[in-house]
Formats: sequence, C-alpha cells, structure tokens
Amino acid sequence: MCGIVGYIGNSQAAPILLDGLSKLEYRGYDSAGIAVYDGKEIKMVKAMGRLKVLEELTHGGATLSGTVGIGHTRWATHGQPSDINSHPHFNTSGTIAVVHNGIIENYLALKDKLLSKGYVFKSETDTEVVAHLIDYYYRGNPLEAITKVMHRVEGSYALGILFSEHPDQIFAVRKDSPLIVGKSEDGCFIASDVPAVLKYTRDVYFINNQEVVRLRADHMHFYSVDEEEIQKESVRIDWDADAAEKGGYEHFMLKEMYEQPKTIRDTFSPRVKDGEIVIEELGMTDEDIRSITKMHIVACGSAYHAGVVGKYVMEGMARIPVEVDLASEFRYRNPILDKGSMVVVISQSGETADTLAALRQAQKEGCKVLGIVNVVGSSIAREADNVMYTWAGPEIAVATTKAYSAQLIALYLLSMKFAQVRGKINQDQYSEMLRDLEKLPEQIELLLANKGRIQRFANRYVGAKDIFFIGRGIDYAISLEASLKLKEISYIHSEAYAAGELKHGTISLIEEGTLVAAVLTQEDLYKKTTSNMVEVKSRGAFLLAVTNEGHTDIEETADYVIYIPQTNPYFVTSLAVIPLQLFAYYVSVGKGCDVDKPRNLAKSVTVE
Ligand code: F6R
Repeated sequence: MCGIVGYIGNSQAAPILLDGLSKLEYRGYDSAGIAVYDGKEIKMVKAMGRLKVLEELTHGGATLSGTVGIGHTRWATHGQPSDINSHPHFNTSGTIAVVHNGIIENYLALKDKLLSKGYVFKSETDTEVVAHLIDYYYRGNPLEAITKVMHRVEGSYALGILFSEHPDQIFAVRKDSPLIVGKSEDGCFIASDVPAVLKYTRDVYFINNQEVVRLRADHMHFYSVDEEEIQKESVRIDWDADAAEKGGYEHFMLKEMYEQPKTIRDTFSPRVKDGEIVIEELGMTDEDIRSITKMHIVACGSAYHAGVVGKYVMEGMARIPVEVDLASEFRYRNPILDKGSMVVVISQSGETADTLAALRQAQKEGCKVLGIVNVVGSSIAREADNVMYTWAGPEIAVATTKAYSAQLIALYLLSMKFAQVRGKINQDQYSEMLRDLEKLPEQIELLLANKGRIQRFANRYVGAKDIFFIGRGIDYAISLEASLKLKEISYIHSEAYAAGELKHGTISLIEEGTLVAAVLTQEDLYKKTTSNMVEVKSRGAFLLAVTNEGHTDIEETADYVIYIPQTNPYFVTSLAVIPLQLFAYYVSVGKGCDVDKPRNLAKSVTVE
C-alpha cells in the first residue's frame, strides 16, 4: 500500500520526508520519491527499489534543499513498478506535484478527456491524471482546483499536493484512503499513518472523507469539499512506535483482518460500472467466454482454498465444469488441457514457485492463463496472459486473510460475468447478487465487532490437541481454510473434513471434549451436516456451529453457535470465514505464538 508524507516548516524538508517514508516501509512498496520546492521550482528525485536507493541518490536528502516537500512510497496498482511510474507526478509545466495513495477508478475516462485537450502523459499511472486534472482546473486558487477535482474523480485517494506558485502551503485531501496531519513547534506534517510523524508530534488530526487540509509552516486549516472551513479536534497518540505501525492493533494479522471490508470494496467497486461487471483486464470477448468448455483453477495453500470456493461458485452459477488443482500436483500430473480450457492461477505474492511452474506448463500446452494476483509486477503477473489484480494492498502477516478475501471477490465477479454472458442468470438475479456483494463489507464489520465473544471461546482451546472442521459443499471449502488458518498459527493439529466422509475413518479420532467446528451455511445441506454433528456429539465431541441467522434450532445440537448474516449462498464464504479467522488468531495469541511470523513458514514460497 502506498505511503505518503509531506512537510512544511523551518527545517530542511528532504531528510524529514525520507525519515517519514522509512517509518511507512512496513506498508510495503516497490519504489519511492520526493519533491521539494527549492526557492525557485519544485525539484524531484524518484526511483524504483528500496528507500536506500533514494537516500543514496539524494545523499540523505542533502541534494534537495528547501523547507517544503512531499514524498511517497509506491506499491504498484496501475502500471508496473518503474522509475517513471513512481510518484510524485507532475503537470506538464512541472508546477504542480502530486503524491497519491489509492485507486482512481475512472482514470481511463478522465485520461481520454485530458488527452483530447492536448495533455501529454509520461506514466501509466492513475495518479498522473490527478496532476493534469488539477492543472486543468487551476486558475490561481489551489483550493478551488482541488475541490473541483474531488467532484470529478471516483475511487479512493489520499493526496499530497504542492504548487510552485504557492510554496508557503501544502494541500492534502482524502477519500477512503488513510490520511493524518500533525503539527509540531517546527512545522506541519501530512502522512498516511501515525508512525511517520511520531518523532515530531503526538497530536494528530485524522482527516475524514472528502476533507481538504491547507498546511502552512505554523498552522493548518481544514475545509469541506464545498470549500467551507471546518473545525477539527486533535487526537493524542499514546501508542509506542511499534504499535503505531500496526495502526494500534496488536498484530498485523488482526489489522489485516480489519482491513477486509475495505479490501473487498477495492476489489469489486472499480469493476462494477452502472450496474454491470466490467473486467477490462480479462482480455476476452463474449464469444471467448461462451466457448470455454472447461476451467482449471491452480494455486497453493489458501489461494487453493479460494479456488475450491471458486469451483462451487463457477460451476453453480455459470455451469462451466471446473477442476481445482494444487499447483505442486498439477505441474506433474500431466493434466488434459485442450483449446477450450481456460486456466486460472491464483496467487497473492505472484512468486509462488509451483504456481508459476503450473502457469508455464499450461502455456506450453497452448492454453491462455488468467492470473488472479495481488502483487503488481510479480513473476506470475508478468507471465500470465491476462491479470486480474486483487488490489488488497501488501499483506505483512504470513497467514493470509485479506488477500484470500480479495481472491474470493475476484472469483465471484468472474463467475457472475461468465454466468451472465452464457445466459445462466437473468437480470434480476444478477442485480440482486450485485446488491448482496455491496453489502458484504458492512456485514464483515458486524462480524468483526463480535471479536470479544470469539476471543473468550478461543481461550478455552489454547490447550487443544486436535480440532476438526466439517462441512459440505462450499462449507467444506470454508472448513479447509479455517483449518489451515488455525494450524499454521497455533500449531494445533487440525483437519478439515467433508462432513459426509467422517464415518469413513476420521470419526475414530473423536474423543471426549474434542472440538468439532461445523459450518452450515448451505440451506440444502443443512440437515445432512446436522446429522453428522449428532454423530460426533454422541462420541463426545464439543460442537461449535457456524450457521446462518435464523437457524436457532441448531442450538439443540451445537454447544456454541456463531450466526452469519444472510447473503447469497455463493458469497457466504466471505462472511463465515471471518469468525473462523478470529478464532485461529485468538487461539494463537492465547498460546503466546508468534502470530505474524509462525515458525517454519515464509510469506512467499519461491522454492518448489
Ligand atoms: C496461508 C498462506 C499460504 C499461501 C500460499 C500461496 O495462510 O498464506 O497458504 O496462501 O503459500 O501463496 P501465494 O498466494 O502467494 O501464491
């Protein structure tokens, strides 16, 4: 996720900007840049790679003199990581510099408009559109130009903006991307997150959506999008620097779980335009979509589990037969691929060795490969024929949560699109599904708010030897992910079982008090799974049920129940997985494990 900083005051800006950016490194980035007004013009240095490169290029900031500037660490979303795509971006005359965190969803339409007016673009980014658009509206009044731009752009943004004609000011605005400002004796600061300013001040202002800030060296003013001045109260930050990096959360995993509502919005909203799903990056005509005879989904770990959900959704909605493979199996099993086969590989990192090998294998057999990938410019993103980015932002905890959630959304969108083109769902069903999708973020917030109850339940199981998860259909797919989450971070042995398979072996492992978590979100399978619950209960199991709101009858069988808000049965994974992620997290915390960096595991598995 990009990080932005800005400073205006009495000291040299560049070293302060570099220091601020270093405090945002935890957010992940692939390039960095700063721009400083030197008394005559705005000078800029930016480069791909670590912050160290920028520090060396500027001699620790010494080569850029001036007391006002903005800086950025970029995590690529639009356009590969490269020097030219790094921020800051400028208008053509170099008098307006912009740094941006977020995604401008209508940037292509705006870019076309600006191109037709003679604007020339240097980068592939959505941010450069903002720099030119400010230029377009600028008539000497920065605030007026900025608010006009805010009315035109759609999507999410936190922006830092510098005008060479107004070097005694910096501007910052936000919508759906984080932004704070702070003031010290020495000057004023903007930043994506608190750690960047903690060294200078502990009194910060959290900027709300559609607010603008004008910072001068010794004071700042806040405005609404209608240019009316507003008053804001500062907040005293008493977290230490380490906690501040995690936004006050105890672990990155918890922070990332809380980012899931936003992640989901970021994955679907740029692809829903006027009530239609538009996946431009798919590179397929309707005719191509109609001619698919089979889909292969290939991935590892949690991404594979997202793929298992994808199979149920794609087959159920679009009636396309789907095979899901673990990449490490697919690459050696000599799969039968023909001209009508579509191959989809899923990867958060885009660097997983087995998934990359599977992609190459499929291409060798003449198949086009679609990558569902989080990291822009990663190996899988570069080699796939088409890439659908999940835009979940960098994930720092080794155990994935928000990237998995974003992968699910990408698969739902793909399934809905294919189902519509192939005439398997009608307009009413399609519109209702879109409405259900839009509700997911809010429903996830409700589930997250219930964390105290789940923590109390999890605390009972820190000493468990074995925990089982059972379910049928999509509920089995959810169980697979719940079980992996638990075992990888708590080191408790856990298995996910298709509920109907229990009596073919596993049931002999059930002892007095063994926790069996049953997932029952699919109405047509509810009674069947309930029977399986009764079977394990009679062998001594303690039963946790995760089921839809309204199924209070489950309390006759289960010992503990977590209710999930109503949604489309295909989208329910996105909700049911939340309490199960929380459960795994709190068992791990309760046991005192290293939640964010579990033993023996790496975030990116680049070896076979
Ligand atoms: C589990 C987890 C892993 C990854 C797997 C694939 O929490 O994170 O199972 O899902 O290693 O990684 P990517 O998605 O980077 O290909």
